[in-house]
Amino acid sequence: MDEVFCQFPFNRLLFTKFKMADLIITIDGPAGSGKSTAARLLARQLGASFLDTGAMYRAVTLAAMQAGVDMSDEDKLLGIMETSEFQFSITDDMMAVCINGTDVTGQIRSPQVTANARYIASCPKAREKLVEMQRQFAAGRQKIVTEGRDQGTVAFKDADIKFYLMADPTERARRRQAELRARGGDQSLEKIRKAIEDRDKSDQNRTVGPLRPAEDAVIIDTTDLSIDGVVEKLLSCVKEKCFEKN
Ligand code: DC
Repeated sequence: MDEVFCQFPFNRLLFTKFKMADLIITIDGPAGSGKSTAARLLARQLGASFLDTGAMYRAVTLAAMQAGVDMSDEDKLLGIMETSEFQFSITDDMMAVCINGTDVTGQIRSPQVTANARYIASCPKAREKLVEMQRQFAAGRQKIVTEGRDQGTVAFKDADIKFYLMADPTERARRRQAELRARGGDQSLEKIRKAIEDRDKSDQNRTVGPLRPAEDAVIIDTTDLSIDGVVEKLLSCVKEKCFEKN
C-alpha cells in the first residue's frame, strides 16, 4: 500500500504545530552529483523515510506546462498550485506523483520538465509552500533522509547531519547520459554538459533557496566514487556523528 504523505492545494490541509523527526539527514547538491540514488540507498540502510524534493518542483512545473501558462508569471504558477490537485506518495523508496488523479511519475523526468523547473524553483512564494510541505513530511516521522538544493540551508537548518555532494560537470554529464540511454533516449555529452552547467548557474544564482553547501555540511566529491562508495562514505559519517552525539 502506498503511503500518501501529502497533497495540495493547501487550503485542504490542516496546519498544526508539529514535532520534527528524531533524525533528519539532508543531502544537497547539483544535478548529477549522485544525491538522489545515494539518499534513497542511505534511507533504506537506515530504515528512514526518503524525500525527493526535486519531484515536487517537477510536478508543479509539469502541471503549469499542461495548463499552458506563461512560466515566467509567478501569479499564474501560484494559481496552478492552488487549482491542480497534487499527490505525493512513497512506493518502493520512490516518490510517486499524481496530478489531478493521473500518475505522472515518469513524465516529470522529461528533459522539457527538467529545463522548465527553474521557473518554479525561483518563485519565492512557491518555494515557501513547498518547504512547508517538506517540514510537514518530516513531522511525525522518526527518521528522514531528504535531498534537494536547500534542505540543509533553508528547509531543515537544524538537521542532525548535512551532506553536500558535488562532482566534476563532465562526470555528471556522463551519468545523465547513461540514465537517458537506460530509458531509451540519447543526447550528446556536450549538450548534456551544457544543460547541466546552465542549471548549476540558475540554481546557484537565484535569490531564494540558492544551491550552496550549508556551513556545517560534510562536503563529498563523488567524481571518482561508485554509488556504493558514496553510500559507504555517508554511512560512516552518520555512524561517526551519531557516536559523537551519544
Ligand atoms: O533534483 P532535481 O533535478 O529533480 O530537481 C528539479 C528542479 O527543482 C531543479 O531545477 C532544481 C529544483 N529544486 C530546487 O530548487 N530545490 C529543491 N529543494 C529541489 C529541487
